[in-house]
Amino acid sequence: MNANLRAVVRAAWSRGLAVCGIERGYAGLIDGRIQELGPRSVSGILNRGGTVLRTARCEAFLTPEGRARAARVLAAQRIDGLVICGGDGSFRGALALHREHGVAVAGTPGTIDNDLCGTDHTIGFDTAVGTAVEACDKLRDTADSHDRIFVVEVMGRQAGFIALETAVAAGAEAVLVPELPEWGLDRCVTSIAAAREKGKTSMLVVVAEGVASAAAVAAAVRERIPGTHVRETVLGHVLRGGSPSADDRVLATRTGAEAVQAILEGDVAHHIGVVANRLVRTPLAEVLAGRKPLNEELLRLVDTMAS
Ligand code: F6P
Repeated sequence: MNANLRAVVRAAWSRGLAVCGIERGYAGLIDGRIQELGPRSVSGILNRGGTVLRTARCEAFLTPEGRARAARVLAAQRIDGLVICGGDGSFRGALALHREHGVAVAGTPGTIDNDLCGTDHTIGFDTAVGTAVEACDKLRDTADSHDRIFVVEVMGRQAGFIALETAVAAGAEAVLVPELPEWGLDRCVTSIAAAREKGKTSMLVVVAEGVASAAAVAAAVRERIPGTHVRETVLGHVLRGGSPSADDRVLATRTGAEAVQAILEGDVAHHIGVVANRLVRTPLAEVLAGRKPLNEELLRLVDTMAS
């Protein structure tokens, strides 16, 4: 998100525009917590995790009154365009602000979950997967040395993208994702049992938090396959932080600069993504209506590679 902020600020300045940063998302907008930003204000943040503007969940923005207050703040500050880096909740708010008050908004894909249409990847996803894979590699050392099965829980309440890519990249023997219940616990237990038959003594299972807790999956494996030594690890918010990968920095920089360009061209209420390495503007309404499919080829690969 910092890389995205830096890109918006510098792209706007290069076009002769003044830029403000809103602290703590919509909550700060409603409260008028706004600071002027210049190119030097965003120095040294490209490689930093989190967001220097901070962020917050905001109940008030879910109401028409809250959004009206936000629109009044924007008008009073003479702000003509708003770039919102976030996921579907943030975009729903942005679209409502646009429809109800005519605010020129643009969205950039800021969620580690990767569950947004209109872009191949979202900002933070690559970094989150990289962190999860590094952790799995480390767990694999103990799994191999002690003949154990590790169940690793990753973020993803509604989406299995992080779990799936982690499973493929870490060579996990099974994966559980919320989108496809049929690839659930039974299948996971069958895969583990089959792998044991073939002589595997150590294994990794990756589970998205939205399916079940690592503890529940570990307990089920222990119960259904007697004699297994199972341990669980929850990676949780560790995946949300840390210095962004090069891919994430590039994605954040491209989409941030393009968001400024879209607003300048009057292409408002659009989401800026990158599809097949090309910048793509998609109406926010379309992004919100769509559901990005999980790549089933990757799911099948997990099975094939577990053999
Ligand atoms: O939406 C992104 C996400 O990281 C999910 O993967 C996760 O379930 C959720 O946010 C966690 O939110 P919180 O930090 O509020 O618990």
